[in-house]
Amino acid sequence: MAKEVNTIGVLTSGGDAPGMNAAIRSVVRRAISNGKKVKGIQKGYQGLINEEISDMSPRDVSDIIQKGGTILRTARCEEFKTEEGQELGAEMCKKHGIDGLIVIGGDGSYRGAQALSKHGINTIGLPGTIDLDIACTDYTIGFDTAINTAMQAIDKIRDTSSSHERCSIVEVMGRGAGYIALWCGVAGGAEDILLPEKYEFNEQEIINHIIDNRKKGKTFHLIVNAEGIGHSTSMARRIEAATGIETRATILGYMQRGGSPTCKDRFYASMMGAYAVDLLCQGKTNRVVGQKNGEWKDFDIDEALAMQKNISEFEYSVSRSLSI
Ligand code: ADP
Ligand code: F6P
Repeated sequence: MAKEVNTIGVLTSGGDAPGMNAAIRSVVRRAISNGKKVKGIQKGYQGLINEEISDMSPRDVSDIIQKGGTILRTARCEEFKTEEGQELGAEMCKKHGIDGLIVIGGDGSYRGAQALSKHGINTIGLPGTIDLDIACTDYTIGFDTAINTAMQAIDKIRDTSSSHERCSIVEVMGRGAGYIALWCGVAGGAEDILLPEKYEFNEQEIINHIIDNRKKGKTFHLIVNAEGIGHSTSMARRIEAATGIETRATILGYMQRGGSPTCKDRFYASMMGAYAVDLLCQGKTNRVVGQKNGEWKDFDIDEALAMQKNISEFEYSVSRSLSI
């Protein structure tokens, strides 16, 4: 028989992402609407172990939907990767009456949720990461805000790059994944978009492309490079030496993780938060929420972690054909 959940805990884990607050707000209000108690856990699994746990009311999530970051704070917690850390986490849940837990984060955070589920705590994962690198879902909370932030930065770099007739390399986040680079590279009209999933470490090809484009009358050259490839500063030095064209690198960094979430991030976060609460109310555990082909879905965490996600061949081919 499905276990009835009475008190729902919520935490954010791993890198923060714009829209996490909208997800927390949705969890709190949907749960309380369903007659459940809610407890907020500060600083991810670290705060669970350290017992940084407090009751949450609908008023505790007032005026946060538009805010970036996470009011619950977030952390990476090495101790939670150990059996002892996970046992302690489960003990803390039991001590505070938390029988259901919603974890907002990425793949790593789901592994923690999986472990707690094995210790008898019903757990649900929500995809919260700017990287879009979660295979079971077409959308992750924070991605839309991050790509818009990056795109606006690229537009600004384009202004100065064209004025100086330079080559500019803009490095964007994404850890090992190239989704942020692909999206803001296409939207920013980049001449080259370097994705870790596709890059063959052939710098000569890029150099030839820059020289060809000059011959065709292009006066500046914009390269979007993914963090997973990195080395933008040394790449800029080599390109300048090989082409004779002034080349500058800009690493956008953490600005991509901040800022007020877009409408899309707030909407998806609101839906996903409520969906997670509904799963707990149905007695489900070890599930992760996703959106696939326009539908709200949930997947077994073990299966979700085994899924693979790849850059679409069509999208990649388009990205390479628009800079002629
Ligand atoms: P993300 O959730 O964004 O993928 P991380 O991979 O850094 O970010 O994971 C966030 C946190 O989740 C880690 O700091 C750790 O506390 C927990 N975690 C990661 N991997 C595991 C694991 N194998 N077992 C238990 N907890 C884990
Ligand atoms: O996962 C989100 C992300 O911003 C990645 O794009 C990046 O590689 C990583 O987090 C940086 O993590 P940290 O905050 O630990 O430096």
